[in-house]
Amino acid sequence: MITDPKTPYPWINYLGNEDFFSLTSNTGGGYTFYKDAKFRRLTRYRYNNVPVDDGGKYFYIKDGDTVWSPGWKPVKTPLDHYECRHGMSYTRIKGLKNEVEAEVLQFIPLGFWGEIQKVKLTNHGSEKKSLKLFSLIEWCLWNAEDDMTNFQRNFSTGEVEIKDSVIYHKTEFKERRNHYAFYSVNQPIQGYDTDRETFIGLYNGFDSPDAVAAGHPSNSVAHGWSPIASHYLEIDLEPDESRELVFMLGYVEVEESEKWESKAVINKRPALSMIEKFNSVEKVDKAFTELGEYWDDLLDTLSIDSGDDRLDRMVNIWNQYQCMVTFNMSRSASFFESGIGRGMGFRDSNQDLIGFVHQIPDRARERIVDIASTQFEDGSCYHQYQPLTKKGNSAIGGDFNDDPLWLILSTTAYIKETGDFSLLDEMVPFDNDVSRAKSHFEHLKASFYHVVNNLGPHALPLIGRADWNDCLNLNCFSTDPNESFQTTGNKKGETAESLMIAGLFVVYGKEYVKLCRQIGKEKEGDEAEGHVEQMVQAIKDHGWDGDWYLRAYDYYGKKIGSDENEEGKIFIESQGWCSMAEIGKEEGMVEKALDSVKEHLDCEYGIVLNSPAFSKYYIEYGEISTYPAGYKENGGIFCHNNPWIMIGETMIGRGDRAYEYYTKIAPSFLEEISDLHKVEPYVYCQMIAGKEAFKPGEAKNSWLSGTASWNFYAITQYILGVQPDYEGLRIDPCIPKDWDGFKMTRKFRGATYKIEVQNPSHVSKGVRETWVNGEKMSSNLVPLLEKGKQHRVKIIMG
Ligand code: GLC
Ligand code: GLC
Repeated sequence: MITDPKTPYPWINYLGNEDFFSLTSNTGGGYTFYKDAKFRRLTRYRYNNVPVDDGGKYFYIKDGDTVWSPGWKPVKTPLDHYECRHGMSYTRIKGLKNEVEAEVLQFIPLGFWGEIQKVKLTNHGSEKKSLKLFSLIEWCLWNAEDDMTNFQRNFSTGEVEIKDSVIYHKTEFKERRNHYAFYSVNQPIQGYDTDRETFIGLYNGFDSPDAVAAGHPSNSVAHGWSPIASHYLEIDLEPDESRELVFMLGYVEVEESEKWESKAVINKRPALSMIEKFNSVEKVDKAFTELGEYWDDLLDTLSIDSGDDRLDRMVNIWNQYQCMVTFNMSRSASFFESGIGRGMGFRDSNQDLIGFVHQIPDRARERIVDIASTQFEDGSCYHQYQPLTKKGNSAIGGDFNDDPLWLILSTTAYIKETGDFSLLDEMVPFDNDVSRAKSHFEHLKASFYHVVNNLGPHALPLIGRADWNDCLNLNCFSTDPNESFQTTGNKKGETAESLMIAGLFVVYGKEYVKLCRQIGKEKEGDEAEGHVEQMVQAIKDHGWDGDWYLRAYDYYGKKIGSDENEEGKIFIESQGWCSMAEIGKEEGMVEKALDSVKEHLDCEYGIVLNSPAFSKYYIEYGEISTYPAGYKENGGIFCHNNPWIMIGETMIGRGDRAYEYYTKIAPSFLEEISDLHKVEPYVYCQMIAGKEAFKPGEAKNSWLSGTASWNFYAITQYILGVQPDYEGLRIDPCIPKDWDGFKMTRKFRGATYKIEVQNPSHVSKGVRETWVNGEKMSSNLVPLLEKGKQHRVKIIMG
């Protein structure tokens, strides 16, 4: 619940779960789209606007001479009370002014292509009130990019229709579009406007529309320029009386032959039947309850009781919720991603999966197949694909040599969660060409061997255009400011090697070997194991700097991330992956490397990516050295990779330190420093400014980031230590010593595991006894138990 509308930055939420989505800020800003934020944008939004977050779904209330908005914006009349509740796929904003209360509940019913806004007005005063209510949305002319750039055309194309209380947006409907949008209210209206200039006035902002000032609309009909939809309602309220109205912003697709009712008049039947579905408060409330049940059901799959409210809130609610939002949006639409830029990342989407596979395994399976279908026979793949076509994006291309390996992570995570090995036999195309389909297992094999077949001079993996760190561009020597670091690879990529991919390969190579043995491919497993062992050796021989793992070898074969370097002496990624891979653990390398992380990379707000940050441009390193020191990939706290260190710490049993790192970046632990942190204290962000930045601790790019899934994975599977495995749940916590234990309820393969972990001797790691339904087990692998039942699992650490 937000109690001051002037948050340090707009704090947003997402509505919608399948095809239809809205972004909505705590003051009613934001926009709506169907499936694709670029190609099917319903309402307009101006990013990086002045003031920030101007434009959204607004209501204006005129009460005598006072004009105000329930969410404070856009009018910004000080309110007597304000609150905004962001919940699971819904937002409820309440404002109170001069004894009138206005509550706006926004949500998208399940399986529905429309957003509901239930508006409740209450007169708390002792006198009768005569209110004037104006709604406002601004249509986008569908293609959000074209809408913001192509004014010579777009100012002439806008078209609307108005019938009863429904305003229809039908730009381009007569030609190649079979879709329109509408905005309705379930009451007779006393007027409307659909032309922006008429409603607002050419020289006004959203805060002071002419129509509202005048106290009446003009019933304008938009012809070109900027079509909007604004309803006007006169509402009288006796003392203590309430009125509830249902507004709907909907999207309709019609068959070619069904487009028209009569000449130039669109077929409104589909819209009217959508409106009818929710034309009463009872129907709306029922759909809202169903949405709540849907979320309860998703979140019930995994929940904990740790005794710390902040941890419980992250694990049980917000982290899982963010993982689902990231599944829906990938990196496309947030208040930092414009919805017109990026497709779905190959590596991003595979990694995101580990955050939601337990909630929606079927959709996870579909996602894995979509991703794998963009791979090539040699294991390489397109770096991104487009959600509408599901085809690889050739403008960006491939050759990011970490990409293929993430497919092993997502696939094994899926099988461990579900036990569904049939995925491995599914025929999956290469490069979306069905005639080139092979079994999904062959895709994994191609991923594994893509590394084996692309080794460099030290027998370490060639980095290609970049590895996970998109900005470590070792084969791109760029002097042209108009060139993208992401797509320029003007050097032959035959020397630059990555220790991050090396560690990654050992971790997922071992997974691959385990999977092969699990399905009886012993020979394949043995062979692969040989390659993994060679990689371990290569890292020990050429990847160790004395106190930490090197980061890479550059194009000239020189070390990166070495004490020898003047800047960028140590990097987080290779410390994370080589620790997770337990390279040289017996020789103390893991412990040493992680101690070096503590010493050189850790700071008050999290672990920075590299240190010292680069202070000048290194042409042979690429984009990483273009960022000012302390930001983004140049010494920022790039939250996505902090969990790799947390997991690394659990490999050597240091639960206190793993948890300390967890709490440093977990949003619920940062609430008190919101003024500095700036972005939402309920979701992870991509980056927090690092120790060398101008303002350490200030965060950016909230919501859409691999950070959500990796932190969820680290806390649930490595710190709390409940890991799905092929044959059951393995329970191996690594927690702070002073914890007495914790409880987790985990639904797994149809059964419910009520897990209680006790820590009587106050250790960080080690399981002394495992009890299942009162029976002592021989190991901490809890077997698959009878479906449909609850089972008691007791773990005694020590
Ligand atoms: C961005 C990208 C991700 C990349 C990371 C580090 O978050 O989405 O693919 O790994 O930056 O550069
Ligand atoms: C920039 C960003 C990086 C992102 C990449 C692709 O390089 O710094 O985080 O992954 O763009 O969008």
